[in-house]
Amino acid sequence: MPPPVDLLIRNLKPWSGLGDGDAPIDLAAVDGRFLAATPDMQAVTVIDASGRLAVPGFVEPHIHLDKVLTADRVPTNVSGTLTEAIELLWASKRALTPETVAEAAGRMIESAVLHGVTHIRTHVDIDTIGGLKPLEGVVAARERYRHLVDMQIVAFPQEGILRDEGTERLMWQAMDKGADVVGGMPFNEDGPAESARHIAIAFEIARAYGADIDMHVDETDDPDARTLEMLAEQTMANGWEGRVTAGHTCALAGYGENYARSVIAKVKAAGLHMITNPATNLMLQGRLDAQPKRRGITRVKELLAEGVNVSFGQDCIRDTFYPFGRGDLLEVALLTAHAAHMSMPNEVEQVFAMPTVNAARVLRLPDYALRPGAPADMVILDAGSALEAIHQQAARRYVIKRGRIVAETEVKKRLAV
Ligand code: FE2
Repeated sequence: MPPPVDLLIRNLKPWSGLGDGDAPIDLAAVDGRFLAATPDMQAVTVIDASGRLAVPGFVEPHIHLDKVLTADRVPTNVSGTLTEAIELLWASKRALTPETVAEAAGRMIESAVLHGVTHIRTHVDIDTIGGLKPLEGVVAARERYRHLVDMQIVAFPQEGILRDEGTERLMWQAMDKGADVVGGMPFNEDGPAESARHIAIAFEIARAYGADIDMHVDETDDPDARTLEMLAEQTMANGWEGRVTAGHTCALAGYGENYARSVIAKVKAAGLHMITNPATNLMLQGRLDAQPKRRGITRVKELLAEGVNVSFGQDCIRDTFYPFGRGDLLEVALLTAHAAHMSMPNEVEQVFAMPTVNAARVLRLPDYALRPGAPADMVILDAGSALEAIHQQAARRYVIKRGRIVAETEVKKRLAV
């Protein structure tokens, strides 16, 4: 008799968008990887999934773990704008310590895992205000929660690289001290030449470290913002196609049709991954508009129609930018469906793809699948379809990381009459 495997899951329904059909399957796990189940297999832990829908976990591609839960420590963002949010953040950044960052980040990592997240890419501010302290805190949290979630850290120069003298040196240091991905915010410079230089510096760092790039791009309603096109052009000039992500890109929604089409064509040619963050940007953008107010999110449907990879992120949790958020990507899925007018059955499937297969492409996860040989990561949802998962905000019945159950949720509701 062979020794028992670590975990055996009977009768789970893979989401069809994974590409292997949706017929119920059994799957086992040993030493952190899936293997094919056999009828007489013995296991230390057995789950009967009863036909529930499963994916290899939700993938959070854009969050700011160094800023989470700071809202209660700073004055309220009265104007509700991005500009005031960044200014209020300065006080918080002066006061933080690596320990306070690690503690808050850890609480939100736990919340994300409870909501089925198995991978996270987080941005971390790198600037002359907080120095490398936010990075030190998030690196400590990553170490502490390594058994629950895999994390990529983006070195994010939110205050600009040229505008904030000293940040370039800190960016290089950040890559030596735990950052994996080079970030950017090229619109936050003094004019187009400086924005282009900001992007060029990011590519110099990325080339030196063989790293991917993930920038905050044109997070503004200003239809004259042009840094998405710059990023696409420099991506192609550096041969970094498929390795660069543009987050937010709110201004793309405000472009005239001809220019928008030409930029989307360059985005496609450069293989940029696009991330919309509707929770934050529905709250911030268009805030000071007279009616009709702009929605503030990028052209999700137009990008998808051109075959661009689009995902979404939570972005903010109880900070100066956004007062809600739990790291729950089904909640953000529901917001995205509303914000991007995605209601048809195929569109709902596209929404479900965003925090799963599409986000896995953003993070360039090599084997995001429910099949033998893949990492044994999974969330089993209390739902039978993607539509039901989003509609019901389905409980994450089991969350599995490297073949181990790391979270369970059981919801009991009953009419009392
Ligand atoms: Fe962001």
